[in-house]
Amino acid sequence: MKILDKFYEGKAKQLYRTEDPNLVVMHYKDDTTAYNGIKKAQIANKGIINNKISTIIYKRLMALGIPTHYVDTLNERDQLCKRVTIFPLEVVVRNIIAGSMSRRLDIPEGTKPINTIYELCYKNDSLGDPLINDHHAVAVGAATYDELKVIYELTDRINNALKNIFLEVGVLLVDFKIEFGKTSDGEIVLADEISPDTARLWDVNTNRKLDKDRFRRDLGDVIDAYLDIYNRLQTLK
Ligand code: TMP
Repeated sequence: MKILDKFYEGKAKQLYRTEDPNLVVMHYKDDTTAYNGIKKAQIANKGIINNKISTIIYKRLMALGIPTHYVDTLNERDQLCKRVTIFPLEVVVRNIIAGSMSRRLDIPEGTKPINTIYELCYKNDSLGDPLINDHHAVAVGAATYDELKVIYELTDRINNALKNIFLEVGVLLVDFKIEFGKTSDGEIVLADEISPDTARLWDVNTNRKLDKDRFRRDLGDVIDAYLDIYNRLQTLK
């Protein structure tokens, strides 16, 4: 597969065209950002580890019948993916209260809510990716109500699958962010990465943070935590 020009560069990844108009290459960088790009760093090999982690997770989700953009892992930093039009939405799922919800509503981090919390953020850098609801999403043209219904159904299946995958390796899935896209034939699929950059992952016994909060909060040992997640996922049967 011949890799052509770069057509998109995000904070942690680049996208390249290929000879096939329906396939793109997603390249994982070592760049890390937090707080909407205010805090920045390079973490050596982070892109390689996230590619490996995301590959394991996507293969598991696909084995459970969840539609995704994933096609193949080409090398240590590149994945071949279906070309999709990304919904300009970040779907956040919270199983345990942490991060922005803890701050915004003054609920202690680690509190287990009686329900699962679903949030939408509008992907718009100049607005700072604001929190919106379903009606806002429809009003700004980010998705239709029918598309949101599919997105929520998939999100629920993905949450249940991810909770089980991580629990199998002694990790609590606190919260995570996912994105969806639409393929050229109109299918809504999971897209982007799932990794310690996009999820809060705590050791079930010690509550040790094994995710990007180690970078956001200057806790140190960032790459060791990501490697710990990768090593644990490798033990999955
Ligand atoms: P938050 O507590 O900062 O709102 O984040 C909730 C979860 O979503 C957390 O696992 C980090 C992830 N997330 C991203 O991956 N990208 C983002 O831009 C945001 C805001 C959150």
